[in-house]
Amino acid sequence: MLWFKCDEIIPGVILALIYVALSLSGVFFYMEYEGIEDVDSHCRVAYSAEKHIDTFRQKNSSAFVVGFSGEVGRHLLETLDQAKVFSRIVLIGRRTINLDHLGPEFEQRRVRFDLLEDYAETFDGLDYGFCTLGTSHSSVLSAEFNRVDHDYVLKTAEVAKAKGCKHFTVVSSHGADSNSSFFFKQAKGLMEETLMEMKFDRLSIFRPGVLLCDRKEHRPGDTIFQSLLRPIAYFFPTAVTLPVETAAIAMLNNVIAPNNRTVDIYENKAIHVVAGMASQYCPPELVPLKHHDHSFHHKDHDSEF
Ligand SMILES: NC(=O)c1ccc[n+]([C@@H]2O[C@H](COP(=O)([O-])OP(=O)(O)OC[C@H]3O[C@@H](n4cnc5c(N)ncnc54)[C@H](OP(=O)(O)O)[C@@H]3O)[C@@H](O)[C@H]2O)c1
Repeated sequence: MLWFKCDEIIPGVILALIYVALSLSGVFFYMEYEGIEDVDSHCRVAYSAEKHIDTFRQKNSSAFVVGFSGEVGRHLLETLDQAKVFSRIVLIGRRTINLDHLGPEFEQRRVRFDLLEDYAETFDGLDYGFCTLGTSHSSVLSAEFNRVDHDYVLKTAEVAKAKGCKHFTVVSSHGADSNSSFFFKQAKGLMEETLMEMKFDRLSIFRPGVLLCDRKEHRPGDTIFQSLLRPIAYFFPTAVTLPVETAAIAMLNNVIAPNNRTVDIYENKAIHVVAGMASQYCPPELVPLKHHDHSFHHKDHDSEF
């Protein structure tokens, strides 16, 4: 009797799984190959960053990074360390890290984000700001999420702007929308809107999909989710995922490339293009020369913080 049932059930389950797999592949295929709005201008960012890196370096500009101990943040430090485009980089955070593996241009300041005005002088003379602050929204209360991803980001921007920051770069999220019924997306959307009202000379908003990384912090849910997504990222690399290394390179390329727009918003796929990692979307004349061996590629070592 049981044998009879298995005989009927197993082929049905296999067929159902094949159906689900094919449907999902179709969805990811569509997401991978759908067009990118304004793609030429994104391609131009990667292309011009490569061309203008020496000119930018000669400006001897200074920058700050908040959120530097997180996944995007620490890869951004690696990228900045390799590129050597800033003469001074101030890492501003609630804790300090070991800087031994980084160049002499890096220094750090410990602050309290709830009293950031008291630390305003930390931001003196820093023209460029990178903000990768955030909390794990799956594991924290919404109030904590709002405090960090909304309040602390805006407070940082406000104090930095008052101290002369010209170009503020922030990591937001795919789907950020102040009208969303999802708390996470709404908070990110509200944060973006308030940043736009601050009128920086330049504001760059990065909206990644799912970040791919070997997370230092133990988050079991995140690890399982990432393991499921890795095969998808292999076949459809730009559809929903973004390696943190790519995010870091894109953020720096975008700062180096001359641009007269005041606000840029980069969705997940566009971030791949801006990093010079998805040149298949670009016309041949805008493909960065070194896109196979990018000048800001990371050292293989994983630095210890
Ligand atoms: N993970 C994803 O798949 C995903 C997807 C879309 C968007 N994003 C966004 O991408 C951004 C970066 O993500 P990530 O994965 O790199 O973040 P992360 O690894 O969790 O790092 C977050 C950073 O924020 C700091 N931070 C957290 N809580 C803080 C607090 N209460 N006070 C001061 N600093 C605090 C952390 O400092 P400590 O090291 O001291 O904790 C760390 O430097 C976030 O805004 C996130 O929302 C992530």
